[in-house]
Amino acid sequence: MKTTFTGLLLAAAFVSSCNQTETAQKDQTSALENQAMDKSIVAEGFKLLETNCFSCHSPNASMDNRLAPPMEAIKKHYINDNTSLEDFTRDLTTFLNNPKAENSKMPGAIQRFGLMPAMQFSKAEVVKIAHYIFNTELEKPDWFDKHYEEEKEKHGVTSKSPDSPLEAGKAIAMRTQSVLGASLKEAINTKGADYALSFCSTSAIALTDSMGFAQNAKIKRVSDKNRNPKNKANPTELAFIHATKEALQQDLDVQPKLISTDTSYVGLYPIFSSEMCLQCHGKPLQDVKENTLAKIRQLYPDDLAVDYKSKELRGIWVVEMKKK
Ligand code: HEC
Ligand code: HEC
Repeated sequence: MKTTFTGLLLAAAFVSSCNQTETAQKDQTSALENQAMDKSIVAEGFKLLETNCFSCHSPNASMDNRLAPPMEAIKKHYINDNTSLEDFTRDLTTFLNNPKAENSKMPGAIQRFGLMPAMQFSKAEVVKIAHYIFNTELEKPDWFDKHYEEEKEKHGVTSKSPDSPLEAGKAIAMRTQSVLGASLKEAINTKGADYALSFCSTSAIALTDSMGFAQNAKIKRVSDKNRNPKNKANPTELAFIHATKEALQQDLDVQPKLISTDTSYVGLYPIFSSEMCLQCHGKPLQDVKENTLAKIRQLYPDDLAVDYKSKELRGIWVVEMKKK
């Protein structure tokens, strides 16, 4: 009896220890899988941040004319030693879904920069962004500088120096585009394309002007097929637009251009259409709804800015910077 009992116990111990090694192994593989998955989420988070956030939350600390606090500062306000990734994701989601003073952890930033404009991000996007901010040492991103250079090269910026007028002008155009885009998105989402149209017609030039003023530059959007007569490209700008279209047709890389005059530098940067633009710049009565079209024709009797498809050259940014 006794022996059998011990035998059973031993057998049980053996079985359970066997199970333990098995679960330990399982844990190890899933930890590895998790690590690999985390890595790719973090990488995607970086891409999202770069395209959606850095235009305002510039990681380049030397840029003195910022539009928002750097992510590093945000991280310090949102994450302390006791904050879990889940806590942070929840807080970030709360603010991004509804950027309002009562959801803010940085009232000083609202005072200094004004409230962040509302934009639309999916839950999955915010999760990835949160992963990146939480898991990466933003203060010392050793791989970041290199990666950023590679990204810039990929996007066809020829000069390596961040202080070059071509780069400075691009940063100004990108920031203005984010602000304009964010305001437009908000207008469409809250009140629809018709209202957004009036918003565009009354505010686009004013907003662009004020962005230029804030950044010590003159900035405008022009086109060969302009809607507002004030946005008609001049001969120099037209030549660049035609050259860019030519390059696109031949599948060549599209490059921005810098023109130097006696008193200033003028940077020219292509603007492409996306799906979202077609409700006001696409095919009439198909992409552009009847109501919207009527309103466009009323506000801009000589409108040329329709019949675009996605990913076409819609126009260019022209950024004029005084020489020092
Ligand atoms: C058009 C400019 C702009 C863009 C683009 C932008 N932000 Fe902001 N953001 C701001 C400004 C301005 C503030 C400071 C004022 C405030 O807190 O609302 C801010 C503040 C924040 C804050 C702190 C909020 C608080 O007050 O507690 C977080 C978090 C944040 N942004 C996240 C993001 C993320 C993530 C992205 C990209 C997905 C992003 N922002 C894109 C302008 C922008
Ligand atoms: C809700 C309607 C609406 C949407 C959506 C829209 N636009 Fe426009 N767009 C306008 C109006 C109105 C003007 C004329 C603004 C003015 O009077 O300065 C304009 C002007 C422009 C101009 C200046 C040249 C011109 O034709 O006068 C460019 C460039 C431009 N839009 C690009 C875009 C791009 C790119 C998108 C998508 C990311 C977009 N627009 C989405 C309504 C819209």
